[in-house]
Amino acid sequence: MDLLKVFAPATVANVACGFDVLGFALEGLGDELIIRKKPESGLKITAIHGSRHLSKDADKNVVTVAAQALLNHLEEKPDFGFEFELTKKVKPGSGLGSSASSSAAAVFAVNELLGKPFSRTELVQFAMAGEELASGIPHADNVAPSLLGGFILIRSYDPLDIVELDYPDDLFATVVHPQIEIKTSDAKKILREQIDLKDAITQWGNIGGLVSGLAKSDYGLIGRSLQDVVAEPTRGILIPAFAEAKQSAAENGALGCSISGSGPSIFSLCQGLETAHQVAESFKKLYEGIGLESYVHTSPVNTKGVEILG
Ligand code: HSE
Repeated sequence: MDLLKVFAPATVANVACGFDVLGFALEGLGDELIIRKKPESGLKITAIHGSRHLSKDADKNVVTVAAQALLNHLEEKPDFGFEFELTKKVKPGSGLGSSASSSAAAVFAVNELLGKPFSRTELVQFAMAGEELASGIPHADNVAPSLLGGFILIRSYDPLDIVELDYPDDLFATVVHPQIEIKTSDAKKILREQIDLKDAITQWGNIGGLVSGLAKSDYGLIGRSLQDVVAEPTRGILIPAFAEAKQSAAENGALGCSISGSGPSIFSLCQGLETAHQVAESFKKLYEGIGLESYVHTSPVNTKGVEILG
């Protein structure tokens, strides 16, 4: 096999209480990547569609940086190289795991063309190199769900311990991206460096509650646990009409609503597709009302993660 096209889904990281440790994958939104073997060694980006601002320089694009992290780990290096054609569908700076989709697609595609020396879970560590380039921190809460699908807990970073969580079938997400850009690196800088013990207690209670609620299909518990007292109070200020969006999600039956990743996208989780669509309508109306363009997407939790398109 010398050529492959892959799709890696967009993701919602943090999921309110799980800063840097929780994430889930979305359906119907993600980056596409074509990979080709080339006779000379080395990595090259030949084209980027859908974004004018990303660099094709192999040291500056998450695709090649993540792919190189994988190659560095091989005992026997291949005597050929790879070239990539990237189609960005997840907008950079949206909070929907844009850099993670590209990084996940890259490591998955390279691994396939090398005959799968690594498992999907092992690929997470290489995709994290892309996240380090993009945000300065090698967080895994976007790349892990993009690679594996589903709802993921990063139980530990050192050593990396990735847990695939159970979740109910009738769980749907609605995300809204008010059309502004927030760089994850900037959103990380504004966080408080220390948190009060009181807030830590609230946060870890909610993480336990969310994981348990997902496992038991206890929607009430899921809803009560979708609270973030660590990142949201600072980051919410950067997002236009964030408080109104949360209120509108609650009024329309969402289980909970918070910032997707580092924002500006906002996600809500809902029981049932109908409620998720109602929340989507309310988000659209809200942003139309304040004259800000927005992109709204409703999706079940993506069970597959990164996949081969052809
Ligand atoms: N956990 C990361 C953060 C996700 O909140 O900074 C970035 O998408």
